[in-house]
Amino acid sequence: MPAPLLVTFAANDTGPWRIDRVDTVTGEGMAAARRLAVFESQAPSASEGEAWRLSGTTSNLRYTHRPEVQALTAIQEGLGRRQATRAALIPIRKSEAWWNLSQDERRACLEEQSHHIALGLEYLPAVARRLHHCRDLGGPFDFLTWFEYAPEDEGRFESLVRSLRGTPEWKYVDREVDIRLTRD
Ligand code: HEM
Repeated sequence: MPAPLLVTFAANDTGPWRIDRVDTVTGEGMAAARRLAVFESQAPSASEGEAWRLSGTTSNLRYTHRPEVQALTAIQEGLGRRQATRAALIPIRKSEAWWNLSQDERRACLEEQSHHIALGLEYLPAVARRLHHCRDLGGPFDFLTWFEYAPEDEGRFESLVRSLRGTPEWKYVDREVDIRLTRD
């Protein structure tokens, strides 16, 4: 497991990703902006016209069992592939009820009841992803989820997101914003 990496997503006028749409799925929305920059480790101070910034860190796995880790690492691909010119930044907050569950109850909900990992595996390697945690940093979300895929896989990504939103796990999601981007 690599050391935790602090990642900052900054919505501004100059970042390499063009923001195509910002959809409020659940709870409070976010301000519209033109572009997005992703900074790893050190982020520069906010530029003029920055609409918002969100930070999170990569972390160790919480719920994934060994055979799942093996299945994921066998097929998943990394970020930054040349053909992956589409991305999604989906910040998510889960309710107090989720955080009041025990670790084994959360795992059962995520996988045995919702099949999050099994479902997600069907979309690899087309979709590359990185999960950032931010609950302990005190921001407005618990997770910043980031995905990269090629334009021809956009429809499949939509179907993945739709399926996940219908699972028991998503009953605990009380804030979700879906931000779609193109690298131009
Ligand atoms: C967590 C896989 C897509 C949101 C996880 C975990 C795995 C995983 C293995 C558990 C990490 C751990 O053990 O701590 C995948 C795969 C996907 C996928 C293979 C296929 C592309 C998505 C999508 C979303 C999403 C599309 C959002 C719409 C999350 C969130 C967590 C998570 C919020 C953290 C859950 C928590 O800790 O409570 N995912 N996922 N995932 N995933 Fe996914």
